[in-house]
Amino acid sequence: MTLLRIGIVTVSDRSSSGEREDLSGPALEQAVLSKGWNVVEKTIVPDEKLDIQAVLIGWSSNDGVDVILTTGGTGFAPRDITPEATKEVIDRETPGLAEVMRAESLKITKHAVLSRAVAGIRDNTLIINLPGSPKAAVENFEVVAPVLEHAVQLLRDDPKAEDNH
Ligand code: MTE
Repeated sequence: MTLLRIGIVTVSDRSSSGEREDLSGPALEQAVLSKGWNVVEKTIVPDEKLDIQAVLIGWSSNDGVDVILTTGGTGFAPRDITPEATKEVIDRETPGLAEVMRAESLKITKHAVLSRAVAGIRDNTLIINLPGSPKAAVENFEVVAPVLEHAVQLLRDDPKAEDNH
């Protein structure tokens, strides 16, 4: 097993202002902990590109976070900007992760196609957009969770990665 260090950023105007309790961040945290991994960073930011990017850049630069999960801001609402914020800061896109999340989510709800979520790599950190509701965030996380340890082994250039090929 590879112990993953996960950061969770909730992207929501209403949760960041305190108007609405953040339920998605804690739901994701539980899901991460249930895999035996660590949550090393958590924060809430408004639907502002620069605020989102500051977190993504900060956490991926400090070498202490393997995977950043964002929740929220992937839909069609005028303020939904998480995918654009993410695309601008990643070095390499990882489309398979976004594709499989949408494909599997489509078996649960036809609204899955409305997620514009992207995923990609910045430095050695994998960044994955998840939808905003607690249910949708956890459902999407569960789709990609089985490949995350191998993904991080590859990012670390860990010899253990060979064992899983
Ligand atoms: N994926 C799963 N697995 N379950 C869901 O309930 N909701 C969808 C979609 N993906 C959903 C899902 C809906 S209704 C929307 S609008 C998009 O994710 C984007 O969500 P966001 O705007 O909260 O980020």
